[in-house]
Amino acid sequence: MISTVYAISLAGMAFIAAVFIFVIKNSKEVEADYPSVIQKWYGVRGKWFIFLAILGITVTFLSTSPYPIADQEKTYEDNEHQVVKVGAHQWYWTMVPNTVESGKPVAFYVTGEDVNHGFGVYDDNLTLVAQTQAMPGYTNKLIHTFDKPGKYKILCLEYCGLAHHAMITELTVN
Ligand code: CUA
Repeated sequence: MISTVYAISLAGMAFIAAVFIFVIKNSKEVEADYPSVIQKWYGVRGKWFIFLAILGITVTFLSTSPYPIADQEKTYEDNEHQVVKVGAHQWYWTMVPNTVESGKPVAFYVTGEDVNHGFGVYDDNLTLVAQTQAMPGYTNKLIHTFDKPGKYKILCLEYCGLAHHAMITELTVN
């Protein structure tokens, strides 16, 4: 048994040694071929890069047009948009008013009253439709136009202590 294992090991070592010898013997030829390989594949690489760049730009353009986030810098006349004041507290929301109209831009003015929170607006399928941070000492403006009426959920998006999960309120969109 031991001599069989010994023989198999020797044969294996001989095979590996043969592979090494073969590679070393042939490495000169490979070196000679190398410049032509370089020339061919560097050319392919250049074309591949151009193809990927065009593909990337096209996909980016198509998938962000129209751009999914409203223009946050746009200014509205007073009668063109609705204003909602949002305060985030440990662990509840204040939101005045808590009813808005669909089809008309809403400007949420969001602040944190104690620590950092995240203001997340979700539709009935719990899909996030808009979000911003609620930070103490800052008021973040978030412009969003609701395109369908319904009950939207406001959830906290940033861990803010023990009852973070309980920071839920509702926004009615008529
Ligand atoms: Cu507030 Cu998490």
